[in-house]
Amino acid sequence: MTLAIDLDVHPALDLPLLRDLILPERPLWTPSQLRDLTSTITTELTTPLLDVLRFEEPQRWWARLALTGGVEVWLLSWLPGQGTEPHDHGGAAGSFTVLKGQLTEDYRYPGGPIRTMKRQLGEAVGFSGGRAHQVRNLGVAPAASVHAYSPPLLPTREYASLEDVK
Ligand SMILES: [Fe+2]
Repeated sequence: MTLAIDLDVHPALDLPLLRDLILPERPLWTPSQLRDLTSTITTELTTPLLDVLRFEEPQRWWARLALTGGVEVWLLSWLPGQGTEPHDHGGAAGSFTVLKGQLTEDYRYPGGPIRTMKRQLGEAVGFSGGRAHQVRNLGVAPAASVHAYSPPLLPTREYASLEDVK
């Protein structure tokens, strides 16, 4: 059987370790598996990640690190003041790990309270599909993070406010 999505790996990170970690045969990843994935990539591939990393403005910079039939992995950078709108991941489970600096995350599960957490260097967060969030660099130093989503390629949905998450 042919997978609908071909395996794709960023050329600068096309390393045996990354190819092993993304488990191309796994069709769907749980939040804890995604959290472990971004955490391990961030820890084990720190140097090549920092070599690839760029910062741009006004639009944030990002690069896709890997795509399989079950998961997509991204590297994102955040200059001070940069951030997302409130959004969810279209029902995908997700995770991120802070590679550099510090991020602020406001998040909400439907019907739950809005919470705000500082995500420190090395911190890894995994979440299920119903969760919406807003991620920002509210500090004074550049930041970067590694993200993973499963299933891959689902469009995000933006909200004017996390208050609007039903
Ligand atoms: Fe997100």
